[in-house]
Amino acid sequence: MNLITARTVSDVRKHLAEARLAGHSIGLVPTMGALHAGHATLIERARADAELVAVSIFVNPLQFGPNEDYLRYPRPLEKDLEVCARNGADLVFVPEVDDIYVSPQRTFVEVARLGDYLCGPFRPGHFRGVTTVVAKLFNIIQPDRAYFGEKDFQQLCIIRRMVQDLNMPVSVVAIPIVREADGLALSSRNVYLGPAERAAAPVLHRALQAAREMIEAGERNPGTVKDAAARILATEKLVRPEYFEIVDTLDVQPVSEIDREVRLAAAIWIGKTRLIDNLGAIAR
Ligand code: PAJ
Repeated sequence: MNLITARTVSDVRKHLAEARLAGHSIGLVPTMGALHAGHATLIERARADAELVAVSIFVNPLQFGPNEDYLRYPRPLEKDLEVCARNGADLVFVPEVDDIYVSPQRTFVEVARLGDYLCGPFRPGHFRGVTTVVAKLFNIIQPDRAYFGEKDFQQLCIIRRMVQDLNMPVSVVAIPIVREADGLALSSRNVYLGPAERAAAPVLHRALQAAREMIEAGERNPGTVKDAAARILATEKLVRPEYFEIVDTLDVQPVSEIDREVRLAAAIWIGKTRLIDNLGAIAR
C-alpha cells in the first residue's frame, strides 16, 4: 500500500472510514515529527499488530510553555514521510494548527496527581496539552491501539490513566526506549546539542544506571541513591540537573522507601537543551 498523506481532519476521517468499513484494525503512532529510530520502532510495532497503521505528525502548541522551543522545534516533513513509508505506515496525518484548534480550545483533559512530580512542576500546562491533543487524536482517528514510548515515562503513565479513567476504547501499547550506542536516549531534541554537549549527554544514562545498580544491590533509601546520581551528574561541567526522582510506576509519586518496582527518572539541561531519561528498577 502506498503512503497516504492526510492534511485535514475530514480527509483523515474519510480514509479511515473506508478501512473501518472493511473491518480493518487501526494502529496509531502519535508524534511531533523529526522522526528517529525511536519513532520507527513504534511504527514497526504498530505494523506488526494492526491492519492499518496511521502516524500523526503534529507539533502541538498546547503542550509547549511560552519560553519553550515550539517555534524552533525541527519540522523535516519530507524526511519524516520517508521514515513513515520505510517502516510500513499506511497513512500519515499532518494537520495544520488551525484544523486541530479550529477555535480557541475551551475543553481540556487533565489527569490529576500523576503530573505533580518529575516534569510536571517544571512544565506547567504541558501534560494538559498532551492529554488534550491525544484525546483529540483518539477521537479523530479512533484507533484500536496506540503506541507510546517509555522514553516519556510520565506521559505514558498519564495517557494510560486518561484512557482508563475516561473509558476510551483504545489499548495503549508501551515501547522500550531506543538508545544510541553510548546510552543517550534518542530524542528529536538531540539535534540541538553541539559536539561538546553531545559528548556530555550520556552522563544522564550513566547516572540512572548507577542508581539502578545501587537499588539492585539492596539500597532502599531514595536519598542515598539520589545523592550518588547527583555526584555522577556533577562530573560533567556542561550539565545542569533539573530533577532526579524515584517514583512508583503507577501514580508517579516519589517513594519514601525503595521496596517495590520503581522508576528512576531525571531531567537535565545542557546549554539550552533539556533532556529527559528514565529506567526501571526492582528492589532486591
Ligand atoms: P514525540 O516526542 O515526537 O514522541 C512520539 C512518541 O515517540 C512518544 O510516545 C515518545 O515516547 C516516543 N519516543 C521518543 N523517543 C523515543 C525513544 N528514544 N525510544 C522509544 N520511544 C521514543 O511525545 C510526543 O511526541 C508528544 O507529546 C505526543 C504524544 C505526540 C503528543 O503531542
